[in-house]
Amino acid sequence: MALKLNCQYLSDFVSDKEIAALQDEVNKAHAFLYENKANAEGKDFHGWLTLPEDYDREEFARIKLAAKKIISDSEVLVVIGIGGSYLGARAAIEFVKSKNYNLLAKGTPKIFFLGNSISPTEISEILAVCESCDFSVNVISKSGTTTEPAISFRLFKNLLEKKYGKEKAASRIYVTTDKAKGTLKALADREGYEQFVVPDNVGGRYSVLTAVGLLPIACAGIDVDKLMLGAADAKKAYEKVSVSENDCYKYAAIRNALYRKGKKLEMMVCYEPDFTMMNEWFKQLFGESEGKENKGIYPTSAIYSTDLHSLGQYVQEGERTLFETVVAFNRPKCDIIIEEDEENVDGLNFLAGKGMSFVNQKAFEGTVLAHTDGNVPNIIIEADEMDEYNLGQLIYFFEKACAISGYILGVNPFNQPGVESYKKNMFALLGKPGYEELAAVLSERLGK
Ligand code: PA5
Repeated sequence: MALKLNCQYLSDFVSDKEIAALQDEVNKAHAFLYENKANAEGKDFHGWLTLPEDYDREEFARIKLAAKKIISDSEVLVVIGIGGSYLGARAAIEFVKSKNYNLLAKGTPKIFFLGNSISPTEISEILAVCESCDFSVNVISKSGTTTEPAISFRLFKNLLEKKYGKEKAASRIYVTTDKAKGTLKALADREGYEQFVVPDNVGGRYSVLTAVGLLPIACAGIDVDKLMLGAADAKKAYEKVSVSENDCYKYAAIRNALYRKGKKLEMMVCYEPDFTMMNEWFKQLFGESEGKENKGIYPTSAIYSTDLHSLGQYVQEGERTLFETVVAFNRPKCDIIIEEDEENVDGLNFLAGKGMSFVNQKAFEGTVLAHTDGNVPNIIIEADEMDEYNLGQLIYFFEKACAISGYILGVNPFNQPGVESYKKNMFALLGKPGYEELAAVLSERLGK
């Protein structure tokens, strides 16, 4: 395995005995995933569990062909989606390539992610970019009815049709949605767009290894076979039920042990800025899966050493409700050697001949010790490097840990009832037919 769970900085906070004491609860959570599905809430959304091995090979081949076509005929790919229909793909591209992918891309299209806000500013900027270049659109929505992506898609579809005519525009639109239902599915059937499927049994935030993530990822020139191989190896590695033999389950158990001791916030930390969107993906995965029934660890994130200069003070001395999970890579993507300077005015010659990755490593070691001294437990997940294979392992590790952790917590990790509340209010305030009564109540509360 490329991943290793390092618990050396945890012993002052959670003992091996306390972790072992959670084994019965882990067994129950495991049974919900594998044996005892009848009692498991969310049992219809366990498809991601076997996905790295039983994914649709025919569709996988079509994804690669579509990516090849997009790479050959598009300078820009606009990926339209929100939440689970966007975060995984963007996280993967920035993790393997760079957060500056669009500046550095050679031979593959620039990729812009839209439909994840309702900001006219953001959308008009990319509409302007697309007016003067060849582009394609991948619109992604499992339900096919989500407002944010639907508005963006309408705008980009119109631009494509204006630029290329209806027929050619259709050959530049790729739809990833449900196999049978939803407005987007109906539109795709009517217009003859190429379609990819979000499997019924895979929820949005668990869908990065389906066409939802794979098509944009492949368009960035990333090896999707290696990605799936990493996930498949993680699947095999994390099948055992014993926390002493399964790092993924151990991590899930530790999170719950810390939560019960008042550690209510988990800060996902990495010393590589290319991990920024992985942090966002992690926050959605755990936040939407666990934050229910007035329970759940609040997922937050930081990139160090950047955020040591903004959040560092709080982490060191603020309220003691935090723990950190650090994803550390054994090998950086590249290194820069610090040169000797004759004058040494900046006093940095003590670092001459050292790599920047060495300095980064020392920042990590110094911070772990300081934060644990300040009563912030640190869990370390070590990975080899920031490539497709390690990414596949990390994705599967966190997905499974989230499911097990959520079941231990006593919630259904696969629904998201709370997300509907804002939508109902927004529709009412926008005057959507059917929401008239609620609109009257809300207008009064808003004093309008
Ligand atoms: O994880 C989830 O289920 C959500 O975040 C969804 O992915 C998000 O709301 C987008 O939904 P849809 O793909 O139906 O447009």
